[in-house]
This record gives sequence, structure tokens and C-alpha cells, in this order.
Amino acid sequence: MDLHLGTLFHCLDDPDSKENEAPDPAAWEFIPQGALAVEGGRVADRGPAAVLAARYPDARRHDWGTGLIVPGFVDTHIHAAQVDVIASHGSQLLDWLERYTFPEETCFADPDHAAAASAFFFDQLAAHGTTSACIFPTVHEGATEAVFAEAARRRLRIACGKVAMNRFCPEALRDGPDLGRAATERLIARWHCHGRLRYILTPRFAPASTPAQLAWLGGLRREVPGLAVQSHVAENRAEVAWVRELYPEARSYLDVYERHGLLGPGCVYAHGIHLDDADRARLAATGTAIAFCPTSNEFLGSGLFDLARAQEAGVTVGLGSDVGAGTSYSLLRTLASAYGVLQLQGQSLSPWRGFYLATLAGARALGLDGLIGNFETGKEADFVVLDPEATPVLARRCARALERAGGDLAAAAGEILFALMLLGDDRAVRATHILGEAAYRRT
Ligand code: GUN
Ligand code: ZN
Repeated sequence: MDLHLGTLFHCLDDPDSKENEAPDPAAWEFIPQGALAVEGGRVADRGPAAVLAARYPDARRHDWGTGLIVPGFVDTHIHAAQVDVIASHGSQLLDWLERYTFPEETCFADPDHAAAASAFFFDQLAAHGTTSACIFPTVHEGATEAVFAEAARRRLRIACGKVAMNRFCPEALRDGPDLGRAATERLIARWHCHGRLRYILTPRFAPASTPAQLAWLGGLRREVPGLAVQSHVAENRAEVAWVRELYPEARSYLDVYERHGLLGPGCVYAHGIHLDDADRARLAATGTAIAFCPTSNEFLGSGLFDLARAQEAGVTVGLGSDVGAGTSYSLLRTLASAYGVLQLQGQSLSPWRGFYLATLAGARALGLDGLIGNFETGKEADFVVLDPEATPVLARRCARALERAGGDLAAAAGEILFALMLLGDDRAVRATHILGEAAYRRT
């Protein structure tokens, strides 16, 4: 057994109750001088360090000092093939895809390029404290294989699936007359539910698939147990108008997916900015989640995601970096952006709910909350040690919060978490652990 000593924080539920401004105290635990006990890659116990040290006298101890031990971040939407697209200047979605993204993704036909990019990609996730992700690769079987192989090597819990697209994209990125069937079936056979990996059906977005391709994916989903869907929905106004032209029979963009059997628990749709109340009701009724990707939405000028409306409707919402339209791998940076996006709409985001979004909510969105997302006993021990003293600005802000709380760390918890959320990034990640083993340590 290993005992990790430090300040422990995790969420047991959504900390912001609807009626109540104050965070629901039953929904989170903040334990100064706490400990996380790990055995066989799983959470064995948690609580005050003194109690756990007495309970497990033979455990190996890892003292993280002032470090804050939190569950690994869950990125519900990211593109592994856009490591060289991030920070490409000056356009909105459809133009950005044509100008930067599609040309770059064609390079992933080369398996060596794909393998090297995947290794870099997962190094970045570890350095930014992300331990699970829902990942878009490209349309290529080899590039999808590269993501799965790299994740398997690192024992990560991820969902990924070959991108399906067979129109309105360069020839080199287009599925052929078999709609991508053969490659998809081979990948499912090799990787779906293989260790911690899941295959997820990945139509890029409704415009880039023919109705026949979407119908085939919907059929496949009914055949293979545990197969969910990821895609994009209602991100950009021009995109929404285009979908209306392409699918005039559908009530809405979301309805295109529903008609093809592509909504349900574990399914994650990125963005969802330009939805209406009927769409939100369908998301909630089907258990389909939205990945809120604020840095991407700012960067592409897509719009402001209405979190309050989504949550009032009962929609499950996770957090997504959406690299490469997103501008940071860091879910802390992404939370700072989320805070700004919500402020612009007269909404707010408490640090409690912020950390919930980056951890347990993401696990719920992906249907993985029985396995990851917090420190409940038996869950997989993916965790991160954050450093409230990572930068001079952060250190000063946290020290002052503690001082104002009379040295009572628990009383300063909200301020410290908020400072990490607003000022933190990869510099604030001291270490990342996968199944209890160190996967990254800041040097
Ligand atoms: N819609 C279709 N493809 C993409 C993509 O790669 N990124 C984003 N942000 N939106 C998309
Ligand atoms: Zn995306």
C-alpha cells in the first residue's frame, strides 16, 4: 500500500445545488493534512493523515507537503491530431477547418508522424494533469491505432475512435464507398474494452457525413455493447445554417444525430452553443452530454455556452480543452476561460463546481463515474498533485488567503481552489499518477 500525504480535495456530487448559492457541503471533501491510500492501482482509503498512518503503519509514504491532491482531470473533448494546429490565427470554424485543420490532419496518413504526435500529445496530457480523455484522432486507421497503442502503453483510461467523414473534406481525409466500415470494425475488435480503453464512434460532424454514413454508425451502435458516440454540435452559426440546408427534414442540428440513433448515455457532443430548449430537453432525456469547450469557443468566436440553461434542463456537462481550436491543454486554464464566458452572461462558476466540471462531471459525461472522477474507495487511482505555490503570483495569493483565514486551511479552501482555477496551468501540476503510479513529475 502507498499513502500519499497532502491536502485532499475531491467531489462526491455537483457541489452547487440549484436553489442554494453556497456549495452543498455533502458534495465535496477538503481534508487539510489528509491522505490517500492506494493499493493495486485503486483507491483503498482516504481521510486525515494521522488516522490513515495509524491504520496502515506499513504503508509506503509519499509526503507532498503543501500539495493539493485531486482526482486526475477528465478532458471530454480533445483532438490528438491537432497538436500542430493549436494557435492558428484568424478565422472561424469552417474556414479554420479548411485552412489549417484538414491540411494538417492529412499528415496523419503517415504512421510514423502519427506515432510521434501521439507520444507528444500524451506527454502533454500528463504534464497538464489530464488522466482521462475523449479523443478525436483522424480518419486514418493507423493514426487511430497510434492513439490507442500509446494510451495502452501508459495504461490510460480513454475513449477514442476513427473519425468518420465522407464528404466536404479533402479526398485524402474521406472514407471510401464502404463508409469506413472495415477499418472501424477492425479497430473495435482490437481496442474496444481492451483494458482501460474504449472505442467511441466518431462522426466528425453532421455536415461531413452522408446520411448513409450516420445511419450505418447508428446501426453499429445498437449492435456493439458499450459503444457510445462523440461528435460536434451547434458550435457556429454558419455551421448550423449549413446543417439546416443539408438535413432539411431534421428539426434541429441535434435532431440529425437523434434521427440516426446517435444520442444516449456516454455520448458526448462538443460545444452545443446554438441549441434551443427542445434540444436541451432531448439531451437530458437521452442522457447525452455536452463538452463545454470555452477556450475553443473564444478562439473561434463561436459564442458563449449557456451553462445555467443546460444545467437547469438537466443536461450532463463536462469540460473540454478542444485542442487545437482550444488554446490550452490545461483544464485549469480552461476553467479560467469558463469563468470568463459565464461572467459575460451574468452567470458565475464557483471553484467547487469548477473542479467538479474538470473531474467527476467529465467522468459522468463519459459514463465512467463508476471507475474514475473522485476518491471513492475502489475507484482507479488516477490523481494529480497541484502546487498552490507554483508561481510567485499564485503563492502570494494563496498565502494571503490562508493568512486572512487565520491559518485555517479548510476555511481558505474556496479561495485557494479559485486561485488555482484562475492562475493555474501546467506549472501548477507537480505530479500526475495513473493507477497509483507516477506518470509525470515536474522537474
Ligand atoms: N467541427 C468539426 N470538426 C471540428 C474540429 O476539428 N474542431 C472543432 N472545434 N469543431 C469541429
Ligand atoms: Zn473538437
